[in-house]
Amino acid sequence: MRNLIRAGTLLLVLAGGVQAQEFGDTPYVQTPQNVVDAMLETAKVTAKDFVIDLGSGDGRMVITAAKKRGARGFGVDLDKRLVRLANDNARKAGVADRAKFYDRDLFLTDLSPATVITIYLLPEVNLMARGKLLALAPGTRIVSHDYGIGDWPPDVEYEMDAPGKPVGRSQKSRVLYWVVPDLVAGRWQWTVEDGGKPRRVELLLNQNYQKLEASATLDGAPLAVERATLTGRDIEVVMALPARGRTIFSGTRINQAIEGRLRDAAGKSLPWSAVRVEIRDAAHVIAPTPVVREFNVE
Ligand SMILES: C[S@@+](CC[C@H](N)C(=O)[O-])C[C@H]1O[C@@H](n2cnc3c(N)ncnc32)[C@H](O)[C@@H]1O
Repeated sequence: MRNLIRAGTLLLVLAGGVQAQEFGDTPYVQTPQNVVDAMLETAKVTAKDFVIDLGSGDGRMVITAAKKRGARGFGVDLDKRLVRLANDNARKAGVADRAKFYDRDLFLTDLSPATVITIYLLPEVNLMARGKLLALAPGTRIVSHDYGIGDWPPDVEYEMDAPGKPVGRSQKSRVLYWVVPDLVAGRWQWTVEDGGKPRRVELLLNQNYQKLEASATLDGAPLAVERATLTGRDIEVVMALPARGRTIFSGTRINQAIEGRLRDAAGKSLPWSAVRVEIRDAAHVIAPTPVVREFNVE
C-alpha cells in the first residue's frame, strides 16, 4: 500500500505538469544535483570505479561520477530520447569517453563491470532487481535514491534536503547504501596461541544478507562473540580470549579460507587464518522474499 501511494505521488506530479515522463516501470524523475553528489560521496566513488546507473535519465549520475570523481561508467535507459540527451550531456561535459549511455533494459544488462551501481527506481523495481544485484561480485557498492531493496537492510541510510526535487512535498530525499555481501555462512576453525598454548577456536556463522549471527567455542567450551561483521568479503570477529583478552580477528575470504590478522588487547598483531569445515546457505539465499507486483504504473 505504501508503494502504491509512492507510485501515486509520482504519477500525481506527472499529471500536475512537472517535466517528467512515465516510461517502463519507473517514470522519469531527476535526482537533484546535491543528492547525486551525496550519493557518489556515500559510495566513496573514485577514479578507480566503474559506475553503472540503472535507468540513467539525462545521465547526471554517471556524468557527475566522471567529471567530479574521475570515474568511468555507463547508464542504461528504455527511453531513446533520454539516452540521446545523456550522450549529448556527456559530450558537453567533456566526459563522453568515460560516460556512455545505452538504450537498454536494465534487466537485460550485464552489470559485472560495475564497482558501483546507482539507482533511482520504484521500490517494486528495486525488489525485482535484487537477485541480480546480490549476484554481483562481493564488495560491489550500491546506492539508491529514496527507495530500499525489499528486506535487504542498508548499511547506511539517511535523509537530506533536496531543494528543487520534482516529486513530494517535503523537498527531502533518502539515500540508502549497501555493499554486496560475500557468502560466509558455515563452520570455521583455527588455532590460536593463548597463554603459551595452542587453543582451538570454532566459529559458527549464520548469515542473512550482510548480517551475521555468530557463536563460538574455545577447545569445545562456549566462548562469547562480541561482534561479527561482514563487508563484501571482509570479515571481522571480536572475542575475548582468556590470556590475550579482547581480540579482533579480521581477514578476507579466499575460497574456503579466511586470511588476515589478529590484534589482541595488548595491541599485538599477528597473522591469522581460518578454514571453513562446513558450508551453510545464507538465509536470504534459501528463502528470498517473493517479488510481489503490488501496482502497475502503466
Ligand atoms: C526516476 S528516473 C531516474 C533518472 C536518473 N537515474 C536520475 O537519478 O536522475 C528512472 C529512469 O529509469 C528508466 N527506466 C525504467 N525502467 C527501466 C528499465 N527496465 N530499464 C532501463 N531503464 C528503465 C526510466 O525511463 C527513467 O528514465
